[in-house]
Amino acid sequence: MNITLPLTALIGGTGLTQYPGLTISHEKNVETDLGQTSSPLVFGELFGQPVVFLARHGHPHKLPPHKVNYRANLLALKQAGVSEIIAVNAVGGITEGMDAQAICIPDQIIDYTHGREDTFFDGVYKPLDHVDFTHPYDPVLSEKLYKAAQSKNIDVQKGGVYAATQGPRLETIAEINRLEKDGCDVVGMTGMPEAVLARELNIAYASLSLVVNKAAGKSDELITMDDIRNVLDQGMHRVQVIIAGFLENK
Ligand code: HPA
Repeated sequence: MNITLPLTALIGGTGLTQYPGLTISHEKNVETDLGQTSSPLVFGELFGQPVVFLARHGHPHKLPPHKVNYRANLLALKQAGVSEIIAVNAVGGITEGMDAQAICIPDQIIDYTHGREDTFFDGVYKPLDHVDFTHPYDPVLSEKLYKAAQSKNIDVQKGGVYAATQGPRLETIAEINRLEKDGCDVVGMTGMPEAVLARELNIAYASLSLVVNKAAGKSDELITMDDIRNVLDQGMHRVQVIIAGFLENK
């Protein structure tokens, strides 16, 4: 019997604009009805599985979080036959344990962004509709990522609340205190509207959120891009090991 497995897409963020080890079969520039994707879709094979890779900020990294055409990205992935997405996000850590190098698989999200095109159901592209978003991250896919991390002996926090902020500036101490009171564990700039657009297209979506700095006011240091880059280099490797575990078990 020939069972077709879901086609997995990997969306890479800051620190992951190319996917190491991916055997590329072809790249496709996509102009959707809603505009151009951040970068070409890269089709290939990773650990024996077909995957599609997309660099969220372009390659090289050029698009700030609020300028990413999330709708075009998600639509192009859907049209390519993708049915599950592992999103990789670099985030700031707010709560205990969310220190640089920690990895969180969030199960909830709060959207603090504004002015982004955040739905397909806008009455223009598609008629108005309201999707259920009780569980913004796909629980089954998230659990598989958690199991993959365990199988590779990589510590991850299972569950957590992702605060999606507008950026591109980082937050003030007061803003982070407010996010903490709201129950947020990590803060990043790209979680929304990506997660909801995936839901609107019925694509399973989960995130591996790598903490690259303590959020504003949570350490004595100011946040520098140099420090973030150092963490990214090591941390993204661990994220890739989790993805390897996931694909090997597929
Ligand atoms: N805040 C928001 N987004 C981020 C951060 C942060 O501290 N670090 C990485 N992405």
